Amino acid sequence: MPSTREYARQLMERCDVLAVHTMDEGRITRPYGTTALANARTQLTEWMRDAGMSTRVDNIGNLFGRYDADPAATDPKTFLIGGHVDSVVDAGRYDGILGILSGIAAVRRLLDAKTRLLFAIEVVAFADEEGNRFHTSFLGSSPAAGLWDHSWLTLKDDDGVTLEEAIRRSGGDPDALAGDALNPASLLGFIEVHIEQGPVLQDRDQPVAAVSSITGSDRATILLHGMAGHAGTVPMTLRRDALVGAAELVLAIEQIGRSVPDLVATVGKLDVEPGASNVIAGRIELTLDLRHPDPKARSLANLDVRDRLQEIVSRRGLVSEWIDSPGFSDTACDPTLTDLLRDAIAAEGSEPISLFSSAGHDAITLATITPVTMMFVRCMNGISHNPAELIVEDDIEVALRVLNRFLVTVAQR
Ligand code: GLV
Ligand code: MN
Ligand code: MN
Repeated sequence: MPSTREYARQLMERCDVLAVHTMDEGRITRPYGTTALANARTQLTEWMRDAGMSTRVDNIGNLFGRYDADPAATDPKTFLIGGHVDSVVDAGRYDGILGILSGIAAVRRLLDAKTRLLFAIEVVAFADEEGNRFHTSFLGSSPAAGLWDHSWLTLKDDDGVTLEEAIRRSGGDPDALAGDALNPASLLGFIEVHIEQGPVLQDRDQPVAAVSSITGSDRATILLHGMAGHAGTVPMTLRRDALVGAAELVLAIEQIGRSVPDLVATVGKLDVEPGASNVIAGRIELTLDLRHPDPKARSLANLDVRDRLQEIVSRRGLVSEWIDSPGFSDTACDPTLTDLLRDAIAAEGSEPISLFSSAGHDAITLATITPVTMMFVRCMNGISHNPAELIVEDDIEVALRVLNRFLVTVAQR
């Protein structure tokens, strides 16, 4: 039977193998519904089968690998372990992937030990967590959690392709999504192993932590309409330049983000139309992402941004539109599962730290149907959503030991 070290080494190698599946030569970009994502899923399917799992893909494109319970178990439930296979633009190689590969490693270890637990394990690779293509949150886990919103089918990507069309092209049936909801009564819980995406574990010189809760986020798309015109002939005093209005708004959003402790406010995407060096910008589309652990502070910040937007557009003779995008709500991890995870961390010789997550995760949607917890793994300098994302094999070895102990303890209860 291989050592935990060997499973950890294999996991690290597999992260490198998956990094090759990208839509952008030379960098990792793997949005929903692309061939890169389908190819990564095919690779994961192979590894799941190799670990003794049967596999299926649901209509949104989530891949499930099932390792059945011990035949002696009466009416066994299912424990989910997972992560997401999509990535942001120019991503690192561990965000999301780590959760899937940890699940596969845990199952492979059970197979090698010729063991089954009193519950089944399903390793799930969610098809879209980042939401970069359709500006969604948790597109993959939403139908699985029974939170599918039929109106999302009309969402369009930047090329005008609807989500409905993207689902069809990836082999799913858009009319069958509601039927993909998992049965809450059949589930025991969900765990995701994820890179921390922050610097706390490095600072405290610890490899892993349990996650106590996940921050909510408000998201919106803001449109600014001005008047396109000739960059040479329209005098400065007569312009209604949507881009300078947007520039002011971006700075106002930064100022709001800085003015409230624990608030973070981001404009991560800004599109300029028509987008030419000799044309005054007539239309801007920009995204807003607001996060704060307290929903009240978040809504106040949201109102502040709206006020500043109104002030800017009226002063500049612009017109604005505010379109709420699906955000996510604050979610507490299940105290019982999280305590078991902390116990497993302590039993494996690390400090049982609890961290709070400022990044969104599929655990938010799954928490509506089953108890959830998460394990964070130290990442170098807290860097994530960046190709410089880095984790080390030593920490993965600890994470796999903890995950194994956690599953065995859950089975004993
Ligand atoms: C997902 O990575 C998010 O927090 O936006
Ligand atoms: Mn991410
Ligand atoms: Mn992630």
